[in-house]
Amino acid sequence: MSNSDTKVWLITGSSSGFGRSLVEAVLKKGDRVVATARKPEQLDDLVQQYPETIHPVRLDVTNPQEIQASIKSALNQYACIDVLVNNAGYATLGAIEEFSDEDIRRQFETNFFGVLNMTRAVLPTMRKQRSGHILNISSFAGVVAFGGLGIYSATKFAIEGISEALVQEVKPLGINVTLIEPGTFQTNGAASVITPKQPIAEYAATIDSMQAAIVSQPGDPAKAAVAMIQVVESDNPPLRLALGEDSANGIAQKLDAMKAELEAWKSVSLSTAFEGETVGARN
Ligand SMILES: NC(=O)c1ccc[n+]([C@@H]2O[C@H](COP(=O)([O-])OP(=O)(O)OC[C@H]3O[C@@H](n4cnc5c(N)ncnc54)[C@H](OP(=O)(O)O)[C@@H]3O)[C@@H](O)[C@H]2O)c1
Repeated sequence: MSNSDTKVWLITGSSSGFGRSLVEAVLKKGDRVVATARKPEQLDDLVQQYPETIHPVRLDVTNPQEIQASIKSALNQYACIDVLVNNAGYATLGAIEEFSDEDIRRQFETNFFGVLNMTRAVLPTMRKQRSGHILNISSFAGVVAFGGLGIYSATKFAIEGISEALVQEVKPLGINVTLIEPGTFQTNGAASVITPKQPIAEYAATIDSMQAAIVSQPGDPAKAAVAMIQVVESDNPPLRLALGEDSANGIAQKLDAMKAELEAWKSVSLSTAFEGETVGARN
């Protein structure tokens, strides 16, 4: 942290939804923010209001040159990066069989490789600082998969795996990692959902019920922003934070079901030990 008690945040996907709400909350609090967006002019009103503490930067997270340039620009402006928020992302809604290879790869390019590449690009700075916090915006669907959201879920499950490993690598270096797992919130997310170009009629009922779940958005992104700030300010931040009743309850149900299934099949799980001489013992 450069300036006494204020932090420098770098947030991806700042133009709307969670990103925009978090930028506003961080500025209101008095911290500084490198607000990145594909169209940074969408942040002009905040630049007028907070000319000293917001630094808007163009960034498409699928563009490696823009990733490097955004970090260089952040460091030139504020000399450090205390918090990276990997927020940019979108959802695909459709059955696994319905999506083209191109649709699936594009979804992974943004939701997974965007997060991975931003993280890898910021880590040298955080390692040098011996401090930092990376917030990865996962999803309720990053813990519990639903028919119709399989491809989206796969990208978020991948973020969960990377983050769970990353925290073990970087915590000893003074860097925290937190997965944010929102349920459904009122953002532009529902409007920017990508659907398959060639839907298959047999999946329509499954997709329609998932569509209904997505458009019901009980969560308030401004309150999510407050929760994210609370995590960053905590002396003991969690690896995972569910946001919203749907997410918190749904994840609890999944954990219970997984535990029950593990117990029910435990004798089979434990029946697979190799009983001969091990390869290691022969060497
Ligand atoms: N809303 C929910 O219910 C919900 C639930 C769980 C998780 N999430 C996650 O929350 C995150 C934010 O989504 P949101 O709900 O706030 O939706 P949103 O309002 O549509 O915001 C998505 C943001 O991501 C940006 N973005 C998309 N692709 C990008 C790219 N290639 N490079 C840079 N920015 C890109 C968008 O920029 P443009 O304006 O340029 O398109 C926009 O700023 C996503 O990771 C999403 O998966 C949302």
